[in-house]
Amino acid sequence: MADRLLLTIPTFFGTEATLAHEIRSLGYETTEVTDGRITFEGDLEAIALANVNIRSGQRVLIKMAQFRATTFEELFQGVYNIEWESFIQADCAFPVKGSSLKSVLSSVPACTSIVKKAVVKRLGAKYGIEHFEETGPMMRISFSLMRDEAIIYLDTTGEPLYKRGYRTQGVAAPMRETLAFSMIDITRWRGDRPFADPFCGSGTIPIEAALYAKKIAPGINRSFVSEKWRIMPRGLYDEIREEARSLIDTEIEPCIYASDIDEVAVALAKENAKRAGIDKYIHFSVCDAAKAPLFSEKGVLVSNPPYGERLMDNTSCESLYRKIGKHFSDFPNIGKYILTSHEKFEQCYGRSADKKRKLYNGMLKCYLYQYFK
Ligand SMILES: C[S@@+](CC[C@H](N)C(=O)[O-])C[C@H]1O[C@@H](n2cnc3c(N)ncnc32)[C@H](O)[C@@H]1O
Repeated sequence: MADRLLLTIPTFFGTEATLAHEIRSLGYETTEVTDGRITFEGDLEAIALANVNIRSGQRVLIKMAQFRATTFEELFQGVYNIEWESFIQADCAFPVKGSSLKSVLSSVPACTSIVKKAVVKRLGAKYGIEHFEETGPMMRISFSLMRDEAIIYLDTTGEPLYKRGYRTQGVAAPMRETLAFSMIDITRWRGDRPFADPFCGSGTIPIEAALYAKKIAPGINRSFVSEKWRIMPRGLYDEIREEARSLIDTEIEPCIYASDIDEVAVALAKENAKRAGIDKYIHFSVCDAAKAPLFSEKGVLVSNPPYGERLMDNTSCESLYRKIGKHFSDFPNIGKYILTSHEKFEQCYGRSADKKRKLYNGMLKCYLYQYFK
């Protein structure tokens, strides 16, 4: 196996700058930044470091190959030429899944079957076997066909990185932890000033804020599929988790306010915060955001109110935006960062944003409206 691997981390559209910054902070140079994914060079240690520490990415993939494929034969040969035996032993499980967009090879089931056949043929020839039991460590292969360009990946993460382990049940429209962190990163808040989320739901934004302020790595309490890989040096993940634990900031005491009008959501958010081990830094309350007692000193508010789609009808949503626009204007020292897909947000809120950032909440195009006072 080559010492240097190409590693790709997918992220939400719009959050690439946050992820690139996180990768650089781990000591790696990014080699390619495309919409929704960032690639960098690294070794096996880089895989473990990224899995344990990255807050804004979805998973860490080894980019095994990239080639043009307009026929099944080209796809087969491109996959067959990869040195799979350097990663996958005879007993490993290697399921395949993938996607195809704007490509001649448009049938995903047919491509999946070709990719699987090519890997089986290559490994069969190397190990001298025809049938694979696939009972050993999980080596999930994925392919993406985009405009006839095939990229083949091996997943090192397993359960996606946004599954930090503290949120077992959600409210009606919970936000991904990775997106919550990216919004916090955009504010440049570091835990030194008060922070508020008056539409906290299950608590994702305030919990991510507390974990970030305390420098608690998101992956210290969960496992990753590549921990069981035989090519991973023994104890590597434990060492990296240990190092991450030693970097927790035991001095900083962030002051975070989280509220929601729904008492069930607030109770759930409290439980989630407890599970994440940071509940003592978050002051929870049940309250209407349009009356939330905020603070007069400098600080930030990061929030994800209803969009008028899943949680609330359009008219009530617009009326809520009008009320919070009025209420929040009483707190000029607080920078406000509000994520919504509602097209008339600024009009209802009563002010044009100082800055806007396009972000995708899943497939939904949203803007993060930024008001610096
Ligand atoms: C999109 S969800 C927030 C999800 C949250 N970010 C999470 O990850 O779980 C919007 C939240 O706004 C709350 N809400 C609706 N109207 C409200 C109001 N007037 N004041 C405060 N919260 C309100 C809902 O109860 C819901 O939990």
